[in-house]
Amino acid sequence: MEIRPLTGALGAEIYGADVTQSDQFEEIQAAFAKYSVIVLREQTLAPQDHLTFARCFGPINVNRFFKPVDGHPEIATVLKEKDQKEAVGEGWHTDHSYDQIPALGSILHAIEMPPFGGDTLFVSMGAAYEALSATMREFLDGLSAIHSSRHVFGATVSDSEAAKSGRLLNAAVATQDARHPVVITHPLSGRRGLYVNPVFTTQIEGLSPDESEALLQMLYDHCMQPEFQCRVRWQEGDLTMWDNRATWHKAINDYHGYRRLMHRVTVDGVALV
Ligand code: SIN
Repeated sequence: MEIRPLTGALGAEIYGADVTQSDQFEEIQAAFAKYSVIVLREQTLAPQDHLTFARCFGPINVNRFFKPVDGHPEIATVLKEKDQKEAVGEGWHTDHSYDQIPALGSILHAIEMPPFGGDTLFVSMGAAYEALSATMREFLDGLSAIHSSRHVFGATVSDSEAAKSGRLLNAAVATQDARHPVVITHPLSGRRGLYVNPVFTTQIEGLSPDESEALLQMLYDHCMQPEFQCRVRWQEGDLTMWDNRATWHKAINDYHGYRRLMHRVTVDGVALV
């Protein structure tokens, strides 16, 4: 297989791999550990193959809020129909940061793509952390933040287009709140990185609401710099896997009038320190 880095910050495209071949797993896993986002081009996969590949990384974490794929409750549907305006995952976020044991990563398979657009952007949280001043890094190192699913998937959003159209379900079980360090040590690489995100993080503990909001906004503006990003331009069949402990991501909603359908499988992680 051929591995081509996407940017200096993170991400790599992999050509010539076949994720159904178990003898290729070690090389794919090493690329995932090195680049945090891997784009496995041109995978011909049945839902069962998608799940088998995901299980090589760990147990499946079944998403509570996304409509499942028919006959495959462990696979979430990420869908925007041509007459819909809202896309799932438009804000910068880290999947499942509202869980006390957040997911290791997610694996997204492109089933139906619009003729243009519908890319996904990623940020390296390690690169963003390392670019902060030593004084700011030291200040952040002792802090913790609260993350929640309530304001994103709960009752207040049950009249959103995504909920009304049945793409998002189970508002009543959006009750997760979790506390994580603002700076984590990556469980595999040992690299330190920021672990707050604009969608799910609600408050930095020990600061006033105004201080917390100002500090989070400063960190978000810092993280959004293009130097820390890569962009995945999808083709149908591509399979992209990202590390939730090392990245943010954001779906670009620029293909109104066209359908985009992805299948997502998420893998269990470990508690963060
Ligand atoms: C997601 O946030 O998991 C979906 C990303 C995408 O659709 O590009």
